[in-house]
Amino acid sequence: MFDRPEYDDHETVMWTRDPATGLSAVIAVHSTARGPAMGGCRLWRYAEPSAALADALRLSMGMTLKNAMADLPVGGGKAVILGPVAPERREVMFEAFGRAVEKLGGAYVSAEDVGVTVADLQAAARYTSHVTGLRAADGRAGGDPSPYTAHGVVGGIEAAVAHGFDGEGLAGRTVAVQGAGAVGGVLCGLLAERGARIIVADVDRARAEAVATRTGAEVVDADRLANVPADVLAPCALGGTITDALAAATPVRVIAGAANNQLATPKAGLLLRARGVIYVPDFVLNAGGIIAVAAEHLGGITEAEVQAQIAAIRPRVASLLAEAERAGEAPEVVAERAARAKVAAAR
Ligand code: NAI
Repeated sequence: MFDRPEYDDHETVMWTRDPATGLSAVIAVHSTARGPAMGGCRLWRYAEPSAALADALRLSMGMTLKNAMADLPVGGGKAVILGPVAPERREVMFEAFGRAVEKLGGAYVSAEDVGVTVADLQAAARYTSHVTGLRAADGRAGGDPSPYTAHGVVGGIEAAVAHGFDGEGLAGRTVAVQGAGAVGGVLCGLLAERGARIIVADVDRARAEAVATRTGAEVVDADRLANVPADVLAPCALGGTITDALAAATPVRVIAGAANNQLATPKAGLLLRARGVIYVPDFVLNAGGIIAVAAEHLGGITEAEVQAQIAAIRPRVASLLAEAERAGEAPEVVAERAARAKVAAAR
């Protein structure tokens, strides 16, 4: 594990298995320098356990960067549960996950990610207080992070469009949304409110069609989305969809979406820059959800304060893109350096 490129000096990596419930998981704590390592729990079917480990390590390092860029007083971590899970064992399995999280004594605080619901975390919360994203108290942010994430993403898309095109606003711009799930679905609604033309695709076509009915989007096949003529591509599915091949051929001017770890390789980012495609680093853009669930966990933060922190993503993206242009560097390189400096300062 130590030789893996994704290892990046993680503080703690825990493999855990509970045969009685079928739980098989890896919990990665990348950094607690700025506070408890906070990041979602993903439930996914991996081809092999080492792929799950790689995913957990990459995602938890990304959480350290994301939480630092959002100025949250938390570090970065992530959990990955190896699916599939039999529906009748789901609840007890998440209870076992809660017991595993509890063993880390608060070094890791879990929340939702792909494949995990509020109800799952409520089961985990029977055994640990180190979970968030459970429910929104009166006047307070919290619960499902996805709508908060979508709001941050739409603000960042607006900033990137203002940077890349003459004139502000999304009215009349075409946005291709990859993934019509929890974030992508809400994002399509926000784009529609702003007058954008939306093209949406999901490997589960019925999901894309349901979103299209609600928002007036056009549905295309998932394998066609990367090539459709559009101004913006918003990856809101899984990571690694911006491959070198896509970077070398994409017709869009802006890539900005919610998915974690969008760039399949560092080279893909450099290819985008060489072609004048503006890539907004995911860990800067998709912090809305973690801002909300961190507020829920830390307490004493109002919904209005959370909205203000999420609104700050837009100017943060604008100044990052301006700085990257001045420095002649890729935005993800500039942002990662800034985030790592914040973590080093805290350490
Ligand atoms: P979700 O599971 O609700 O939605 C993902 C959707 O993408 C699913 O409908 C799935 O069928 C679809 N999909 C998978 N592969 C695809 C492909 N190749 N082409 C088109 N569609 C595909 O997940 P959610 O919560 O919407 O998250 C989306 C992304 O955003 C994930 O990468 C997640 O890690 C990231 N993210 C989510 C946050 C949240 O608040 N939910 C916060 C920060 C990041």
